[in-house]
Amino acid sequence: MLENLQQYQEEVNNFNGGTASEVEEFRIKFLGKKGIINDLFFAFKALPGDQKKAYGQPLNILKKAAEDKVESFQNTQGIDENNASFEDLTRPGYAKSKGSIHPISLVRNEICDIFSKFGFSIAFGPEVEDDWHNFTALNLPKYHPARDMQDTFFLDVSPERLLRTHTSSVQIRHMENAKPPLRFLAPGRVFRNEAISARSHCLFHQVEGLYVDENVSFADLKQTIQYFTESLFGKSKIRMRPSYFPFTEPSAEVDVYWGLETETDYRITKGTGWLEIMGCGMVDPSVLENVGIDSDQYSGFAFGMGIERIAMLLYQIGDIRMFFENDIRFLQQFGAQY
Ligand code: PHE
Repeated sequence: MLENLQQYQEEVNNFNGGTASEVEEFRIKFLGKKGIINDLFFAFKALPGDQKKAYGQPLNILKKAAEDKVESFQNTQGIDENNASFEDLTRPGYAKSKGSIHPISLVRNEICDIFSKFGFSIAFGPEVEDDWHNFTALNLPKYHPARDMQDTFFLDVSPERLLRTHTSSVQIRHMENAKPPLRFLAPGRVFRNEAISARSHCLFHQVEGLYVDENVSFADLKQTIQYFTESLFGKSKIRMRPSYFPFTEPSAEVDVYWGLETETDYRITKGTGWLEIMGCGMVDPSVLENVGIDSDQYSGFAFGMGIERIAMLLYQIGDIRMFFENDIRFLQQFGAQY
C-alpha cells in the first residue's frame, strides 16, 4: 500500500473542491476512520524499523495536504446545490436557545457591583489553602478550639493542605502583598465538612470584604453594611448581634428581617423572620501584625457573607440544594440576563 503513496499525493494535490458532498466524500476517502491515510499509517506501523525512515515524512505531508484541502474547500466552496434551503435567503433563521446565568453568579455580581460603587476592588485567592492563610494568620492557632467552628476538609497529600473553609484566607493573602489603604471584596467557593441539609452544604460561596486604613471605626462598618443591605434588599431592617470570630474584635453577626408572609419565608428563616447573612467585625490587631501592618497606625473592618443565604432570600428558595442540582427547570427561571 505504501508504494502508492506518490499516487495518493497526486490525487490529493489535484483535488479542486466541488459541492459539499464531493468535499465530504473526499474527506471520508482520505481522512475518515477507515480512510486511506489511516490505512497507510497502519501499514507504516508494521514496517521494520529501518524502512520507516523512507515513509514517515511523505506520509505526514500527505496527511497535512489532505487536511488543508478539506479545510479550504469546506470554508470557501462546497455549498450543496441539492440542498435548496441554502438558496432561500429569505428563510427565517434558526432560533438560538439562550442560556441563563446561575442565581449564585447573579447575586455575586450584584454584591460586587454595590461595593464597587464605593471603591472596593476584587481579589481572588486559591481554593486549596495552607494552614497559615486559612487559620494561623487569622488568629486561629493549631489546636485552638475555635477551629471546630469550621469543620475542615484536609487533603491527603499533606495535613498542611486543606480546602479553604472561608474566604477570610484571601484577607491574609492580600494584606501580605499590599499596603493600606486596602479596600476589596473576595468572592469565591468555600468548603466545609458538613452534613448536607436543606440549609447547609459542603460547598458554598462567600464574599469577603476587607477595609484597612487609618481611623476605620465600627461606625464605618455599620454604615457600610446598612448601605449594602438597603441597596440589595430595598429598605430593610437589620440587626447586629454580638458574636465571636477569632480574627475580628469586636465581632457581630448581621441578620436581615424578612418577615413571615409565605411558607417559603418560614422555611428560610426557621420561623423567626430573621436570617443571618454575614459575620463581621473590626480586624483583630494581631491579624494585622501577622501580615506586617502596624496596628497602632491602622485599623480595619472585615465581613464575610454567604451568597446562597442571600440568594435564598432574594429569590425565595427554600432549599440550598437547589443551587447545586443544576436542574434545568430551576435554572431557566433566572432568564437570560447578561
Ligand atoms: N469567615 C467567617 C465565616 O466564614 C465570616 C467572617 C468574615 C466573620 C470576616 C468576620 C469577618 O464564618
